[in-house]
Amino acid sequence: MWLNNIITMCIWQGFIVFASLSLCHVIYAADIDYLRSTITKHFSENRHHVINNTNKVASKEFIYNEFKRFGLETSYHTFSYTKLSTVPFANVVGILKGTNFGKVNDKIIGLGAHYDTVAQTKGVDDNGAGVAAMLDVAKQLTAQNKQGVKRKNTIIFVSFDLEEQGYIGSEVFILHWLNPWLDKNYGKAARSVQPHGIIILDTVMEYNTSSNSQKLPDGAAATFHQLFPKSFESMKSDNFQGDFLAMIYRRTVDDSLATSMTKSWAAEKRPQFEIESFPLPFVDVSSLNQTLMDSFGNFFRSDHRNFWLDNIPAIFLTDSGNFRGDMVNCYHHPCDDLATMLTDDNINFLGKTSDAIARSINELSEPTKPDTSGCIRVSVSHVISALMVLAFFVL
Ligand SMILES: *[C@@H]1O[C@H](CO)[C@@H](O)[C@H](O)[C@H]1NC(C)=O
Ligand SMILES: *[C@@H]1O[C@H](CO)[C@@H](O)[C@H](O)[C@H]1NC(C)=O
Ligand SMILES: *[C@@H]1O[C@H](CO)[C@@H](O)[C@H](O)[C@H]1NC(C)=O
Repeated sequence: MWLNNIITMCIWQGFIVFASLSLCHVIYAADIDYLRSTITKHFSENRHHVINNTNKVASKEFIYNEFKRFGLETSYHTFSYTKLSTVPFANVVGILKGTNFGKVNDKIIGLGAHYDTVAQTKGVDDNGAGVAAMLDVAKQLTAQNKQGVKRKNTIIFVSFDLEEQGYIGSEVFILHWLNPWLDKNYGKAARSVQPHGIIILDTVMEYNTSSNSQKLPDGAAATFHQLFPKSFESMKSDNFQGDFLAMIYRRTVDDSLATSMTKSWAAEKRPQFEIESFPLPFVDVSSLNQTLMDSFGNFFRSDHRNFWLDNIPAIFLTDSGNFRGDMVNCYHHPCDDLATMLTDDNINFLGKTSDAIARSINELSEPTKPDTSGCIRVSVSHVISALMVLAFFVL
């Protein structure tokens, strides 16, 4: 009897060895099943405050519950916008505090994606895809923290409401959530905090390898050639395939975020999924006159614009929406749905985006070395048990 008990114990310990060994590795591996099921179950129906507010509220609560489950400090930033409706609106915020939290040297990193839709669409690509990738990044990074990784810098995940109505959600977020939050937690240092900045994901999963599936705004080829010679040549060399993630940012101010993202993308496998850079030739957006604003209008079409207007570094990641493949017809239309968008290629493209962002944010957060001493110590004692199990069967 006692022998049986010992054997059972040893077998269990043997299992724990393998479990703890596998926990000692930090890898970037987007959970493709998680991306797929999140989009399918929570972001495949309309999320407009008039058309389907019930479903919109359910998506918001899902994001909140996921943030909580991952261990983020989670809250709603609720606000009213009576010009539009009397229903309450809300951004969802999840914070992963770094050891620099509350100090002037906290180089905060943000990741944001809006969850609302326009009236006529189901919003799978716009922007169920962006929210799913953001959640997957939060899942990957918090999993590392649970293994003992500590980070110097604070990370803020945020899902915006009312992007589709003039970028209202991110505007009030900066004004009524971020600035007061900085004042409250960083005191006198609040005005001197220099964040790394925020990565905005909007409409990120259309991947299309057909020639000329990537369009440029009307008459913009010459301008593109001049402004972004490297990306233009790269697009031209493969006959304008829509096979890349577009990264839009302001030259100089957003360079460090952009460089980190480019490096992280290059470090990931699956080279068929590319990234192209679109560095804009200005820093101070508020000084642009209307003519210039209009000519660059397509580069301002998401929540990053409010961070630019507030002089906060921000990069915008997108598949370019209505300029690519099926989205030419489906952008803001009913066919931005599961049947059109949830292909294997698209979901794997989204997986690479999630991995590259997780890698980039991990590095920018300045992680301490993962604390593996614990798992090695546990393993040694268990390895002996495992050897005993082996010895028992062999002898
Ligand atoms: C709202 O979305 C849900 C799916 O989440 C769906 O079951 C329901 O029929 C939709 N309601 C309307 C009015 O479209
Ligand atoms: C807008 O600004 C650009 C660059 O500073 C300048 O060349 C252009 O003439 C201005 N346009 C108007 C209408 O003021
Ligand atoms: C790629 O885009 C073209 C339009 O440029 C579209 O007809 C085709 O269905 C798309 N293919 C895939 C696999 O999405």
